[in-house]
Amino acid sequence: MQLSDCHNVEDFRRLAKARLPSPIFNYIDGAADDERTKDRNISAYDDCDLVPNVLAGVSEIDMGVTVMGKPIAMPLMLSPTALQRLFHWQGERAVAATAQKFGTWFGISSLATVSIEEIGETIASPKMFQLYIHKDKGLNQSMIERCKAAKFDAIALTVDTIVSGNRERCLRSGFTSPPRFTPASVFSYAIHPMWAINYLFREKFALPNLETHVDAGTNVAVSVAEYFNTMLDTSMDWAMAEKVRSDWGGEFCLKGIMSVEDAKRAVDIGATAIMVSNHGGRQLDGSRSPFDQISEIADAVGGKIDIICDGGVRRGSHVLKAIAAGATACSGGRLYLYALAAAGEAGVQRVVGKLRDEIERDMKLMGVRSVPELDASKLRWR
Ligand code: FNR
Ligand code: LAC
Repeated sequence: MQLSDCHNVEDFRRLAKARLPSPIFNYIDGAADDERTKDRNISAYDDCDLVPNVLAGVSEIDMGVTVMGKPIAMPLMLSPTALQRLFHWQGERAVAATAQKFGTWFGISSLATVSIEEIGETIASPKMFQLYIHKDKGLNQSMIERCKAAKFDAIALTVDTIVSGNRERCLRSGFTSPPRFTPASVFSYAIHPMWAINYLFREKFALPNLETHVDAGTNVAVSVAEYFNTMLDTSMDWAMAEKVRSDWGGEFCLKGIMSVEDAKRAVDIGATAIMVSNHGGRQLDGSRSPFDQISEIADAVGGKIDIICDGGVRRGSHVLKAIAAGATACSGGRLYLYALAAAGEAGVQRVVGKLRDEIERDMKLMGVRSVPELDASKLRWR
């Protein structure tokens, strides 16, 4: 199998599985406990159907939307994900370049492998920094100040990781950042020489936005679960979220909101967007899917805050359904991560191009010329 054989996200998942050492693939593909929520995030889109109109004259359509005050060319954003140079040596640089090419938002994680400053210098399109609140308050302030200096467009505060989800695939493989070659995993690294050569002989792995204050994750190998449970501030509450918004002073998104109650509180503290998300099923297994929550959240706060449906998106039709249900836009992680891991920037550009084409094709087949025409009348629930 090769890049030209990949026509959808699932094809890229298969190619990534073939090209990655299993601990790395399972870190991306895995989720919490029995992974029911990760699966539900995707299957939720099958519980409703789109109702097209025809003869609508759709030779020209406008896929644009505005999210956090920034117009973007399509209603699909690239969510912040950690450790990307572990998946492919081009890492966040490939994802950033692709987001810029397609004119959409993307984000880098607190656990990114490329610095805030480099992304700020090289990418002019909308960019967010995903903030994890650490126990080290100096680190929190440092990251916010670095984002201001680098002219990031938004901070997304992740609020669904107060403790780590139970990632059993990582427990079995011994996955850590940076990777340790354990007896359980060394064979898998050994039979993927291209990955190993790139990892060992290209730019040294690091977490440049954290290593100013902490060794864990860069110089000291830790699991993500261990990092979350020892480094992040488990006392985080609404007052702290409001203080982050105030300290940052710019566009502010809460990532990991799932309830109407919390969506309303996000409005109250002055957030400009929420990512309705369960972290790709990697935290609370048994949680409802973001798509299932969109309608009631949109009924409650639609028009007061941008609503991003994050998770489970694998097709352009998923984006149309989420918007018809009330989302402003969608976002996703694995939808581009498999492609990054499998084929670097060429992979990410191919998969985002495929998804963009699916959104355009499906809008035309729906008989809609612009995103606002996608409303609840275009959906029927089974
Ligand atoms: C993530 N996600 C994530 N979220 C976040 O706030 N900070 C992070 O560092 C990461 N890192 C990360 C790594 C990997 C490998 C994955 C798969 C996910 C969650 C991510 O932003 C997004 O919420 C989910 O990926 C959405 O689900 P889908 O699109 O992967 O189904
Ligand atoms: C994860 C963290 C890094 O989901 O957000 O792996």
